[in-house]
Amino acid sequence: MFSSVLAVVLIKMLSILLLCVLSVCVPSKGPVGMFRTECRDGHFWLTVGSGFLGRMFRFDTEGRSGVHTVSDQRAAICGYTMLLDSWGNLVLRASYLACDVDTREHTGIQLMVWFVNKEANDEETSYPFLLTCPLQQWSPREIMCEENYMEVSVKKPIPPVVQKGQEWMTPPPKRSEQGGMKEWRVVFRIPPGAQEDMMSTPVREQTLTLMEAEQLGYHINFTGSRILLRCGYSSPFSYVLKVKGIDLEVISITIFYRYQWTLFKVDASVACSLYKGTMDGTYILWSIPQILPPLVQGPVRNQGARMGVGGRLLSACLIQQRGYKMEVRDGVVEVRIPFGAVGGQIKSHVMAGRYSQSYSVDLFYVQQWGDAQWTLTRHRSFRPLWTTPSPHSPRLVNLTVPEEGDFSVTLGVFPPDVSLANVTIATLTVPLAGAEELGLRVTQVPFPNGTHAYLLQVPFPHPLVSQKYLGGKYRRYTLAVTFTLLISPHREVFTHSASVVCDLQDVVLPRVEGRCTDKTMKLTLHRGNMDTQWAIFFGNHRLEPDLVEFGGYSLEAADDYFTVEVPLYSLGMAYEDLSLQGLLANVAVSVLDVETGAVEQTFIQRCTFHVRELMVCLPNSWMVVVVDTARVVPPLDPRDIALLDPSCRPKEMDRTRALFSFSLDSCGTIQGVEGKDLVYVNEVRYMPRYLPIPQPFFHPFYYYRQPLGCRYPLNGTRTLAIYQSRLWPLSRTRPSQHNPFVRAERG
Ligand SMILES: *[C@@H]1O[C@H](CO)[C@@H](O)[C@H](O)[C@H]1NC(C)=O
Ligand SMILES: *[C@@H]1O[C@H](CO)[C@@H](O)[C@H](O)[C@H]1NC(C)=O
Ligand SMILES: *[C@@H]1O[C@H](CO)[C@@H](O)[C@H](O)[C@H]1NC(C)=O
Ligand SMILES: *[C@@H]1O[C@H](CO)[C@@H](O)[C@H](O)[C@H]1NC(C)=O
Repeated sequence: MFSSVLAVVLIKMLSILLLCVLSVCVPSKGPVGMFRTECRDGHFWLTVGSGFLGRMFRFDTEGRSGVHTVSDQRAAICGYTMLLDSWGNLVLRASYLACDVDTREHTGIQLMVWFVNKEANDEETSYPFLLTCPLQQWSPREIMCEENYMEVSVKKPIPPVVQKGQEWMTPPPKRSEQGGMKEWRVVFRIPPGAQEDMMSTPVREQTLTLMEAEQLGYHINFTGSRILLRCGYSSPFSYVLKVKGIDLEVISITIFYRYQWTLFKVDASVACSLYKGTMDGTYILWSIPQILPPLVQGPVRNQGARMGVGGRLLSACLIQQRGYKMEVRDGVVEVRIPFGAVGGQIKSHVMAGRYSQSYSVDLFYVQQWGDAQWTLTRHRSFRPLWTTPSPHSPRLVNLTVPEEGDFSVTLGVFPPDVSLANVTIATLTVPLAGAEELGLRVTQVPFPNGTHAYLLQVPFPHPLVSQKYLGGKYRRYTLAVTFTLLISPHREVFTHSASVVCDLQDVVLPRVEGRCTDKTMKLTLHRGNMDTQWAIFFGNHRLEPDLVEFGGYSLEAADDYFTVEVPLYSLGMAYEDLSLQGLLANVAVSVLDVETGAVEQTFIQRCTFHVRELMVCLPNSWMVVVVDTARVVPPLDPRDIALLDPSCRPKEMDRTRALFSFSLDSCGTIQGVEGKDLVYVNEVRYMPRYLPIPQPFFHPFYYYRQPLGCRYPLNGTRTLAIYQSRLWPLSRTRPSQHNPFVRAERG
């Protein structure tokens, strides 16, 4: 309807120079996008972006009478409204009937405005705007309830057509209309009871000249066809009238003027709802009586009501879409706007450390009616409505899909004045710029309604994600995150912390492979994918650098596995059996959960090591011995040897070796005590199968003596002991002399 043809115009050099003489200024063209000009329902709108506002700023208007600064007082009288919207943008709204507006048939309605910005260095910069809007179709009576003033304009009654032929006979007085205004009178009426101090008085009437009225803050003027009254709220002749529970501010006024020979009177009364709006559940509620009695004469033909926001009327369809409601209840129109609805602005706050939101909306409401006096009255109200801030916890949504391999959470929904400063994961604070580098993704998700949320994605295996083993190959990934957010423009800070978990059965446990070499066991440990969770034990010994050193292990490490070589007889090895085939030993590798100590996995590697000679003392006073008779020259037949008790002969034999296995309380074993030890001694001797026993001295095997022995602590635990015969001489000594054995390993 109001196809706005507006332009930011650079005025002719001359007028710029003139202005610069008046006030120190530097005219300039504003940066693109910082200014917005519109024509909306009987008003010029000029919006200056919040980012552009300097330390101080103002608007000046320019008309025939020169340049005027729009002060609060002048604004109310002249039809200007200045406001900072919720985002801090500066808005100038000017009535098409404002002072300095120039209305011409061919150019439309024009207003010259200067936005003057005072920078930090006190330098003023002025930006000129020639606001232009198309001509307006006025209804006979127009009432405007602006934020800072009330305005009424009515069509001048047209005098009856003079009879033909009378014009020249009775020429009208040659007076300019302007001059004629001196004779105008205005009569204000205040009904009884409307003001407390006048409860008993009858209607008070006051007649003033235009000049007197002007001095009291009433701006009265006329254009070619209309008479205009404008004044601020709470003016001297205004009174408050309660209608259906709603306070109206009313000015009842009649203007008397003369046109040619005739005296006319015009009712220029105005009434506006003073209702500030309240919260009604999640709605902001604003009300106005459907009929405003001080403005109505005779029967009323209601011609509908419409609402809008930000100076724009909305279609019924949009109203429904946005969830607004407009209902008439007992003669009162109730307008409800849901908190946060499109059309209003949500503003963020931090209250007692909590994120809070308030909501404001610039309500625009129009109702029209006809009555006995005016065929059509259009009554418009601009009402800024707002809620006090209330806590509003941001919502964290867990969008994690385990199959996608990362945590995915959104935090929102935030109005545009909130921005994310940084994200703290575990204990590391990551500025947004550095997130990508650390393998995190932080994205702003915009929504069509101007709000946004933040999406954080962190891969499960990320070092900042903690992991906990749950058993059964399950692990729990935990993302502990704190979002730090800022509210513009004052950079208030608030945080939101959350912890998101995801349990996955994705643990690959360590895997052990073993093999035997001549003298060692080689164990390869594949680390699996939860390396730090496990303690590895070889037998009872935890695999640690100390064990590697003292056990004489050799270690070879690769990325995902390492190999440990465990020498025979070293720490961690256990012995199962000794036979002529060899010594059967094992290393039991266990994987323990470091936190719970639970054994998650055990692997046993067994190897049989070939031995020529070996002596094993078992904890249960049993001894197993392999002796090598080939060491004697000439070689001795193993069948011809026995223990001290000649009936104790080898249990097993091959060509050169014999194995004895006997209890230490048999076979002629001698028992004694040495210090704190219990000592058992026996020996292997030459004992031919066939008697007689050969002559001593002459027989080469007479001196063959192989001492054997076991030593246990008198008080204490007996353990398995293995003795190698590193130096296992053909002994001539008697048993029980000193212990000839070299201890190899305590099992
Ligand atoms: C009334 O309006 C005319 C233009 O229509 C203007 O020149 C004049 O200054 C106005 N009077 C007042 C008191 O504002
Ligand atoms: C804006 O859109 C988002 C996403 O569709 C929605 O969650 C949010 O409630 C909307 N906000 C308002 C104020 O309508
Ligand atoms: C995170 O952002 C807040 C708010 O701007 C700031 O105070 C804090 O220093 C930032 N932390 C880091 C580590 O950058
Ligand atoms: C988040 O999503 C994951 C995967 O769907 C789920 O296992 C977890 O329980 C959810 N909730 C929280 C609070 O982490």
